[in-house]
Amino acid sequence: MTDLGSRNIIQAQSLPGPHQGYMPGYGNDFETEALPDALPQGMNSPQRCNYGLYGEQLSGTAFTAPQGQNERTWCYRIRPSVKHSHRYEKIDVPLWKSAPNVVPDVVSLGQYRWDAIPHGDAPLTWVTGMRTMTTAGDVHTQVGMAAHVYLVTESMVDDYFYSADSELLVVPQAGRMRFHTELGIIDLEPKEIAIIPRGLLYRVEVLDGPCRGFVCENYGQKFELPRRGPIGANCMANPRDFKAPIAAFEDREVPSTVTIKWCGAFHVTKIGHSPLDVVAWHGNYAPMKYDLRTYCPVGAILFDHPDPSIFTVLTAPSGQEGTANIDFVLFRERWLVAEDTFRPPWYHKNIMSELMGNIYGQYDAKPQGFVPGGISLHNMMLPHGPDKNAFERASNANLGPDKLDQTMSFMFETRFPQHLTEFAGKEAPLQDDYIDCWDDIEKKFDGTPGKK
Ligand SMILES: [Fe+2]
Repeated sequence: MTDLGSRNIIQAQSLPGPHQGYMPGYGNDFETEALPDALPQGMNSPQRCNYGLYGEQLSGTAFTAPQGQNERTWCYRIRPSVKHSHRYEKIDVPLWKSAPNVVPDVVSLGQYRWDAIPHGDAPLTWVTGMRTMTTAGDVHTQVGMAAHVYLVTESMVDDYFYSADSELLVVPQAGRMRFHTELGIIDLEPKEIAIIPRGLLYRVEVLDGPCRGFVCENYGQKFELPRRGPIGANCMANPRDFKAPIAAFEDREVPSTVTIKWCGAFHVTKIGHSPLDVVAWHGNYAPMKYDLRTYCPVGAILFDHPDPSIFTVLTAPSGQEGTANIDFVLFRERWLVAEDTFRPPWYHKNIMSELMGNIYGQYDAKPQGFVPGGISLHNMMLPHGPDKNAFERASNANLGPDKLDQTMSFMFETRFPQHLTEFAGKEAPLQDDYIDCWDDIEKKFDGTPGKK
């Protein structure tokens, strides 16, 4: 058994320092090779590839997608992918659900919040540890999303996975994991995110467990950077802070399995080797990681505040301009300086459905109850906003510059209503009293002019 890949991870073109092993730039056209001269130059399909490799294209968009949206990667690999695919057998992964998944006796209409889901005793991998909380849209027509929590304690060994249904946005909250992908290795820990493209094969190793985090499974068009408009060329998420891995491969011949999620169902196929055998690649369809601490928030500097979309890290378009299939929005440390302004998120009712997760710290609209690892859901056209204490404090505070510190929460927001799974409605640690957080809000109005 050889594992040349692990001896050839570091390449001359990778970043120095803590980012060693990655290449910078969102949407760049990358090239990387784990063995010298493995990558053909000036063409994609030479008659014979160096080292006896097979050339293969991985298409992330339709062949005819317009320039600027078209994404594909050329892989030079030990075996073509068709050798990593044999007869399929359906298997049951009972807690990883796909839309449509409307559970008759679970009420999705409501404001909901959950505590962090605890780890159990059973060993769980990336696939068996996925717990779907909500689904939206329809996986078969490639619209919508699912929101999951993962509880992972075990590494995948000679066991590989890919989703034909979706791109995965991974948001760790606890533990460190290593994603061994066809295109290279990504290490991931809390305060970072990863984007795993549709169709990309990988296995997940636990570096420091147990691991818990959130996943947005995007059935639709790929995530992209939001257009900044008048904000200009800088701030928010900057392209250089997204990192693609350099090529790394495994030449390992052992009985292995590949599990594929396809149209909401799981299928397994048996092969005799590691499918992570891409020695060199070039293209713009690649997994990426991003450090959320490099997100540069922009906000109010005199009065009022912009809509929370000002904090969008990534957006996945729906086809209707400005109405996202999914927005990934980050609420992180920042200064509050607005004068004569109610500074927390205002009360509102939204056509979009908002699922939030807490990575660490306290969220300003809900200082209590929304705990790290916890989730809240404010579904389509359901009102929500600060609880009474947050309202009173913000309404009566002396408004000097104030730092929101030690806080990082996020939102998966979608144009589609989010339906609770049976797990979310019946097994996950739902806070039954969440809805009561607004009970104490008083009527202050009595018709007196000038009263505030
Ligand atoms: Fe909201």
